[in-house]
Amino acid sequence: MLNRLEAQSPDALLALIKLHAADERPDKVDLGVGVYRTGQGDTPVFAAIKRAEQALVDTQESKSYLGPEGDMGFVNALMPYIFGTDATMGGRISGMQTPGGTGAVRLALALAQRAGMERLHMGTPSWPNHKQIIDDLGLELAAFGHAKADGTANLDAVLAAIRGAAPGDGVLLHGCCHNPTGIDYAADDWDAIGDAIAETGIFPIIDTAYQGLGEGLEEDAAGLRSVLAKVPEAFIAYSCDKNFGMYRDRVGAFYIMAGEGESETLNTAFSNANALARASWSMPPDHGAAAIRLILRDRAMTEVWLDELDQMRSRMRQVRERLAEAGVAGGVDLAPLGSQNGLFSTLPVTKEQVVRLREEHGIYMAGSGRINIAGLTMDNIEKFIGALADVTG
Ligand SMILES: Cc1ncc(COP(=O)(O)O)c(C=O)c1O
Repeated sequence: MLNRLEAQSPDALLALIKLHAADERPDKVDLGVGVYRTGQGDTPVFAAIKRAEQALVDTQESKSYLGPEGDMGFVNALMPYIFGTDATMGGRISGMQTPGGTGAVRLALALAQRAGMERLHMGTPSWPNHKQIIDDLGLELAAFGHAKADGTANLDAVLAAIRGAAPGDGVLLHGCCHNPTGIDYAADDWDAIGDAIAETGIFPIIDTAYQGLGEGLEEDAAGLRSVLAKVPEAFIAYSCDKNFGMYRDRVGAFYIMAGEGESETLNTAFSNANALARASWSMPPDHGAAAIRLILRDRAMTEVWLDELDQMRSRMRQVRERLAEAGVAGGVDLAPLGSQNGLFSTLPVTKEQVVRLREEHGIYMAGSGRINIAGLTMDNIEKFIGALADVTG
């Protein structure tokens, strides 16, 4: 039976990690893997998480099963950060914990499919796993160009996709810090997108994996909130793996927003999400979400976390400002990176130029031209700009 399987190509970024590890040049630069790094190149456990983990060790009395919805204390404590002061929008929102943002995206798409969605509109390029999940579920992907050549969002394309969609279609949007382009919608764009979704009745699914890594926790939620204020129903997939540095602990949440006064619909949708979760992973891993719950319920620990998030954001902003200041490097204009957000930007470089950067300069990045902004430090940024000028000039 196994002979029927076709070999799958390995994850390109994982292959890049191996190549980088084998490179003996001391000044090699890793811009590939999507994790935050400090100015010293580390991805440390947050101090707030260390504290909360210690508290968990000291106080947790049982590791007995929770339900498919996971740690509801965590799910609820997160809601004011995502949805604002009226965190349930008058009882219209319910959520559950998921294994990372990936679990949340998977659940969102599977539940939308169960509710009849067959086609999903999505701006490309996008996080590569979006397409893998869409394909695995057998959904039809209707792609539109997300980015314009000048490094800004292609609003006309997203509006055309929404307005041209059939009733029952869905649209997947990145809430902030678009991966891989760093290109977010402006407040006016979000308004127009929300209006178009409300007019056509297309179903919005918003994937927020980097809240707080762009312009600030509140600012990064503004687009999502503006859409939710205009539409009757939506799904939200959320990851805590970047903004709490929990990557391998797999902490995420999935939220359902139903129409006003539709509490029965909300309960029914929630029961279906529960059933899908039960059939997929039964229940999410507890540890990371329990630690985050402790942080969010404790003022002092919350302050420590907020401070760490501020430091991450300002470091990435500093790198972006230096890149933008450099202007044109060879054939690449770095100026747009100054107004983009989050961990990633995508450079207009060819695959051959990416190979030259790696072989001749020890700079590792995805073949798509995506760079991890946090892989750059004040020590290696000039080398990177020079190398880019060299291979693209
Ligand atoms: C846009 C987007 N959504 C979801 C995820 C999933 O995050 P997690 O690691 O929590 O599964 C990522 C992670 O890279 C992402 O970039």
